[in-house]
Amino acid sequence: MVNVCVIGAAGGIGQPLSLLLALGLPNKTTLSLYDVAGAAGVAADISHIDRDITIKWANGKLPTVPADPEMKKIAQGVDLFVGAWTCSLSSLVSPASLAMSRDDLFNVNAGIVLDVVKTCASVSPKACFAIVTNPVNSTVPIAANVLKSLGCYDKNKLFGVSTLDIVRATRFINDERTPLNVATVPVVGGHSDVTIVPLFSQLAVGKEIAPGRITELTKRVQDAGTEVVQAKAGKGSATLSMAAAGARFALWIVDGLLGLSNPLVYSYVDTDGSQDTKFLAIPVVLGRNGIQQRLGLGKITATEEELLKIAKKAVTTNISKGEAFAKSKL
Ligand code: NAI
Repeated sequence: MVNVCVIGAAGGIGQPLSLLLALGLPNKTTLSLYDVAGAAGVAADISHIDRDITIKWANGKLPTVPADPEMKKIAQGVDLFVGAWTCSLSSLVSPASLAMSRDDLFNVNAGIVLDVVKTCASVSPKACFAIVTNPVNSTVPIAANVLKSLGCYDKNKLFGVSTLDIVRATRFINDERTPLNVATVPVVGGHSDVTIVPLFSQLAVGKEIAPGRITELTKRVQDAGTEVVQAKAGKGSATLSMAAAGARFALWIVDGLLGLSNPLVYSYVDTDGSQDTKFLAIPVVLGRNGIQQRLGLGKITATEEELLKIAKKAVTTNISKGEAFAKSKL
């Protein structure tokens, strides 16, 4: 049976994500929890839930050590790593960190992505990686380069988790009026700002909503993260909705790996030449070995085409930034 490992399990996303996985994973599976602080507590708490799954955990150290032996131990036999770690200013402990710029923060987070993926893949080279850590448009290319450097890159097993964009778009359009009963809004492109492109025109009800309103909804989906940050008075970002989205996505991957179903999902993945950018959020069908099939984007309107053009330009820049970082370190 599968073993799913949450990295950053004690964080704002990691805790509810671990809980939802503990509730949603099939019986006899393993949930492994790792964090640099607090994984033991989360594991003790979750292991009191009466589910027939095995809970494992390991705590790293702060400041972090490269190729942490504790991480290597927990990474044994893992089939899916869900990475929701981040280096926040408060976890850096050094006063100098308070003066960090956005670029510095990218470099620190990108460095952690590099180290975590390297350590995990060196132990479980055939595992799938679902990257939640932002900026997803760049962290996924970094992870791809690390895996390539280890000789274990499988383009069908690396995912940027963009599910929250789909979840939000679906909720927002259903809130327009009842009963629209939209199951899933396709969202393609990338996972930040203008790179997020909801394809409302592909919904049967899409034509029932005025074009001006579709523009407003698109903007709301693109800026939805800010809505949450502002409501939390700058003290946090989306964690609960993200955990719901991340758990759903991880459970779809598990369903595919176990051969229980072949979910059609939207994710930021290696396009394998099917698009004119190396990575893009596209529809894919999951199976026993990760991505089983990459699908086309389907029929889109001239307005959506225009949005996609803008998205691809930004995504290309984000990919280059990630790749340049990885190349400078590997
Ligand atoms: P958080 O700061 O609450 O939690 C992060 C956790 O990572 C902490 O428990 C910390 O101890 C841990 N951590 C730090 N360094 C680590 C390392 N080297 N190894 C393992 N764990 C480590 O942050 P939060 O809110 O949970 O966000 C996590 C990430 O998810 C951020 O990068 C955030 O930007 C991203 N995010 C992604 C979304 C998406 O849709 N893909 C949506 C919302 C946030």
